[in-house]
Amino acid sequence: MQIIILPDAQAIGEWAADHIARRLAAGRLQVLGVATGSSPLPAYDALARRIDGTGAEGSAEGGAPAVSREALETLTAFALDEYVGIEPDRPESYHAVIREEVTEKLGLDPSRVHVPEGAAEDLEAACRHYEQLIADAGGVDLQILGIGATGHLGFNEPSSSFSSRTRVKTLAPQTRRDNARFFSSEDEVPLHCVTQGLGTIMDAGELLLIAYGEHKAEAVARAVEGPLTSMCPASIIQWHHDAVVLLDEAAASKLEHLDYYRHVQEHDLLPDQD
Ligand code: F6R
Repeated sequence: MQIIILPDAQAIGEWAADHIARRLAAGRLQVLGVATGSSPLPAYDALARRIDGTGAEGSAEGGAPAVSREALETLTAFALDEYVGIEPDRPESYHAVIREEVTEKLGLDPSRVHVPEGAAEDLEAACRHYEQLIADAGGVDLQILGIGATGHLGFNEPSSSFSSRTRVKTLAPQTRRDNARFFSSEDEVPLHCVTQGLGTIMDAGELLLIAYGEHKAEAVARAVEGPLTSMCPASIIQWHHDAVVLLDEAAASKLEHLDYYRHVQEHDLLPDQD
C-alpha cells in the first residue's frame, strides 16, 4: 500500500488525474471503476481539464500526458453502487450523478458506462448481470474509491464479507445521515442499495482511494493501520497488491505512522509513472 499525503483536495485531484492520464496514454487502462460522492470530484474535474491538453499547465511536475478523446471514447466504466428504488432519471440517483460528473464531463460513450440497476424488479438478477458485465469487459483495471465514516467501501457497510460480490445491502444509519445532504431530508435517503462486493472491488488491478477532510481521519486510520476486519470494510485495502491512498493532512492526521509515510514519500525510488 502506498500512502501519499498532499496539501488539499485539489492537489489530490491533480495527482489522481495525472496517474489516470499516464495509464491511459500507456494503454494500460481500458476499464475504469468510478465512485460517486464528493471525494472523486476534483479528480474528474482535473481529468476533464487534461482532455487534448486543455489546461494541462495545471498538471504535476514533469508534466502529465494530456488525455486523448479517443482514449476516453473507448473507455468502459463501472460505478460502484446505486440506491434501491430510485429511478435512474432522478437527480439523487447515482445513474444521474455518474452521467453528469463522469460520462458528460469526460465525454465517455454512454453505452460503455454502467451503474448497478437499483430500480430493477429482480434485484438479484440485476446484481448477477452486473458481475457478468464486469467479467465480460475483462475486469476493472483501476478502481477509484472513497471511504465512508463507517469505513465502508462502495456501500459495503461494517460486517460485509471480504469475499462478497455485487448484491443488495442495507445502508448504515450513519451513511444515511452523511448522504442526507444529497436529498431533501434524511428520511428520503433509501434504506437499501446495490453495491459491488468487497470481493468484486478487490479483483480490480489497482485501487486508488481518495479521502480528505478531518471527518475522514478516523475511518482512514482504521482502514490503513487497524486490523483487517469486516467491521472496517475498507481495511481490506491492506490486502490488495496495488493500492494507493491519497490523503490531505486532515484525513491523515490520525495515522500513527505518519512520519514514516512522509519519509517514504520523500525518498520514493520509483515515483509514479506508467
Ligand atoms: C460512492 C461510494 C461511497 C463513497 C463514500 C464517501 O459511490 O461508493 O463509498 O465513496 O461514502 O463519500 P464522500 O466522497 O461523499 O465522502
